[in-house]
Amino acid sequence: MRVLVTGGCGYIGSHTITDLTSRGHEVAIVDNFSNASPAVLERLASITGVRPISFQADIRDRAALLSIFQEVRPDAVIHFAALKSVGESWEQPLRYFDNNITGTIVLLQVMHECGVRKLVFSSSATVYGMPESCPISEDAPLRVTNPYGRTKLVMEELIGDLCAADESLQAAVLRYFNPVGAHPSGELGESPSGPPANLMPYICQVAAGRREYLNVFGNDYDTADGTGVRDYIHVMDLARAHTDALDALNTCGESFTVNLGTGRGYSVLELVKAFELASGRLIPLRFCPRRAGDVGACYADPSRAAERLGWTAQFDLARMCEDAWRWQCRHPNGI
Ligand code: NAD
Ligand code: WQD
Repeated sequence: MRVLVTGGCGYIGSHTITDLTSRGHEVAIVDNFSNASPAVLERLASITGVRPISFQADIRDRAALLSIFQEVRPDAVIHFAALKSVGESWEQPLRYFDNNITGTIVLLQVMHECGVRKLVFSSSATVYGMPESCPISEDAPLRVTNPYGRTKLVMEELIGDLCAADESLQAAVLRYFNPVGAHPSGELGESPSGPPANLMPYICQVAAGRREYLNVFGNDYDTADGTGVRDYIHVMDLARAHTDALDALNTCGESFTVNLGTGRGYSVLELVKAFELASGRLIPLRFCPRRAGDVGACYADPSRAAERLGWTAQFDLARMCEDAWRWQCRHPNGI
């Protein structure tokens, strides 16, 4: 298929492009580089042997997007482009609503106008808010707790209504749990701008000596060691699920929503220990109060993804840490 990837130079998009390309799909990227570097394109070329066609444009720019669609004539769209920081979304909620929701509406309009009927959409476990219990299935109540999560829920709802109104449009909504790790080459990975908000990139920077210690947000949760438990998933496993989702849309011809996680939760301290083993570095810790809005435990029931996509995660926590550390060592300042 010819696939247009919005946000394709970002963390998850770039890894997904390596999987799409290795499985014979043609890829075109649209990215405004608000959180990515064009250098990713060279890395993709050296990893895959193919330099993807890319367009620098904002998905909210309807005229630009329309002309990209007319030039590329995609069979399907994978839509990663979004702002993704929970903390920043409290500081600039309108920017998040506009970038994520307006951007998605413009994309859906242009898809409609150009007759593109297949969409894979990046959603997030954030739509479950404070889950009542774990593992979390796709039927769990949806109740978001921050403006970023709100954008994901609204976009899921818009896409759901659109698919209900027009059966020829098919969407795969993928709810990621906690993506971590990097491409095994060490040439693609996560490049947070400013101090990392997420655990794995923060640990990487402590191990590299860029930060003195890791703040552990809360050790009084109702978990085995008191620290927060999450379902970390290797970004290459996540990448593979996108190509599988495209295949599933082609074969089953109907829309679906699936969780993408391993189904196994690890605590902050377990992740730290695994990282210390993988890197041979000590991670000094400082215990602090809970972070506002955090839940104690959050991990997926991934059985629907196994049924729908034939997909299960393959990489374990050790491998997530090894690959994240390789990326950190090879590219200490990000891309
Ligand atoms: P990222 O910031 O690395 O990638 C997003 C890409 O989209 C960037 O390259 C950015 O430049 C681009 N972009 C943003 N707004 C745009 C716009 N208006 N027009 C064109 N390009 C735009 O983020 P990521 O971690 O790769 O996340 C990809 C998707 O997955 C996002 O939708 C995010 O909400 C979702 N997600 C991420 C996580 C995570 O922890 N990384 C978890 C769950 C869901
Ligand atoms: C993991 C655990 C923290 C940093 C976020 C978004 C979610 C999704 C994925 C996009 C928690 C603890 C963290 C630190 C710590 N993104 N922690 N010290 O919060 O599960 O999910 O990213 O959709 O929407 O909310 O991930 O990596 O921030 O935290 O102790 O410096 O690590 O308290 O228990 P989270 P995270």
